[in-house]
Amino acid sequence: MSKISSVYDCTIITLDRHQHEKGNITVVQNNKEIPFEIDRVYYLYDIPGGESRGAHAHYDLEQLLVAASGSFDVTLDDGNVKRTFTLNRPYQGLYIKSGLWRELDNFSSGSVCMVLASAKYDEKDYIRDYDSFISYKSDE
Ligand code: TYD
Repeated sequence: MSKISSVYDCTIITLDRHQHEKGNITVVQNNKEIPFEIDRVYYLYDIPGGESRGAHAHYDLEQLLVAASGSFDVTLDDGNVKRTFTLNRPYQGLYIKSGLWRELDNFSSGSVCMVLASAKYDEKDYIRDYDSFISYKSDE
């Protein structure tokens, strides 16, 4: 499945906003707002100016990326096509299917990238070499 996933399988999901005079709440639930079950949550923060993150793919992991604060860009690459998404609202999440190379950059000062992930951390699920990723995607 992750061999044939494309950047067009990924989309920005607009989550519900419960607006309140004291502030807003956005909710993400398993198999409701997102098409997978969350097994792990982590977040990137204190990212130095000009820094980029990611530069890898996953065999199986699915994720929802949210700019919980600030903004950043996510470039997805399926080996044929690249698409860049800007995340800059806490009520929007980028759904990333497995089998896609991703790079994150243009982090605004103080930004927080929250990641909802379908599995626990497993280094064996990473493809960290771009040429290996391309051969994985082109190998039927
Ligand atoms: P990595 O996923 O490569 O970071 P990014 O894509 O944000 O640049 O993770 C960087 C390191 O952090 C990794 O080598 C090990 C550690 N790490 C964990 O221990 N557990 C985790 O859940 C994650 C995401 C990373």
